[in-house]
Amino acid sequence: MLAKPEQATRPKLLVDGLAKSYGATVALKPTHVAVQPGEFLTLLGPSGSGKTTLLQMISGLVLPTEGRLFVDGSNETDTPVHKRDIGLVFQHYALFPHLTVAENIGFPLKMRGKSRAEVDRQVKGALDMVQLGHLAGRFPRELSGGQQQRVALARCFVYQPSIILMDEPLGALDKKLREHMQFEIKRLHRQTGATIIYVTHDQEEALALSDRICLMNHAMVEQIGPPQEIYSRPRTAFAADFIGISNIFRGRVEIGSGGVAHLSTESGRYRIDGTGLSNNAEMALVVRPEHLELGSTGANEISGRVAEVVYAGSETRLLVDITAGELVTVRVLPGKPLPSIGETIRLSWAPEAAVLVTP
Ligand SMILES: Nc1ncnc2c1ncn2[C@@H]1O[C@H](COP(=O)(O)OP(=O)(O)O)[C@@H](O)[C@H]1O
Ligand SMILES: [Mg+2]
Repeated sequence: MLAKPEQATRPKLLVDGLAKSYGATVALKPTHVAVQPGEFLTLLGPSGSGKTTLLQMISGLVLPTEGRLFVDGSNETDTPVHKRDIGLVFQHYALFPHLTVAENIGFPLKMRGKSRAEVDRQVKGALDMVQLGHLAGRFPRELSGGQQQRVALARCFVYQPSIILMDEPLGALDKKLREHMQFEIKRLHRQTGATIIYVTHDQEEALALSDRICLMNHAMVEQIGPPQEIYSRPRTAFAADFIGISNIFRGRVEIGSGGVAHLSTESGRYRIDGTGLSNNAEMALVVRPEHLELGSTGANEISGRVAEVVYAGSETRLLVDITAGELVTVRVLPGKPLPSIGETIRLSWAPEAAVLVTP
């Protein structure tokens, strides 16, 4: 059945110019984001970029200095926290220490006046969902960090809020457990269809989890889009640098006769697609490590000395010193011959494999 147009287009959540200042400190400039029903949106950015501030304003825990928040089309800017249909999970899980695992998970249901039988039934389901049924009678202090965080997830998902906000929920866990929990969160998202807004400063986590990433920097949104799009089509040098590994060459555009365009940089002059560019514009060229080839194969070439060979399991990375200490990263797949440290090599790339961004 086809969705009605207004259902298909009305966002679950509309951040309409929300902004926050603390005295002279601007924590978030006026921000506009529309989140679709069932979407997994990640706020990604360095520390201090305004991620938590935006999330807290959506939760109602922080009041905006300006702007409005719409949920399902209605203005909820002034709705108190406990009246919002929103679940929260933070890095410090804050389980009730004197309640068992089952009682912790059942707490939000009891608060909502559910019957004993109903609470028992839903708690059992939630425990199964995070595979903690065998620990129902334990107290938080008898659990590992990962188990405690799973209880916090179950407690959030159990009353089926249609919006779930998570602020660095896996920040305190080690890498292996974090990856496992990412998988659990993805599964819970799929099972429940909740709209999730997730905060992290970890780009790999954002790439792994998100339908879209909202990249933040200096109290504003830098770029928003699906992970693949931000990775392959970053719009700024910051975006290219923050997500994945990038080689960035800054320079000036030179449009020659017949429209042939080059970017003139300290390390060389590179052929670019000049469509829509003006002569002399300051731009940066982004070349991902997997688009650099060893040898003279493409239109653009540089040479340098191999400074380091870094083994990374599924690939090996070369750090190549091209000019006065500027390092370029190259990916070499397993089975390919590796140059030695100190060797001078040539690298090349096809112009269409590189992306021009604002510096
Ligand atoms: N309660 C507060 N009082 C004063 N400044 C704050 C407060 N909360 C956040 N800020 C400032 O706002 C900016 C954004 O903070 P925050 O949203 O916590 O960033 P992030 O979550 O991306 O690390 C920072 O410069 C921070 O110091
Ligand atoms: Mg934060």
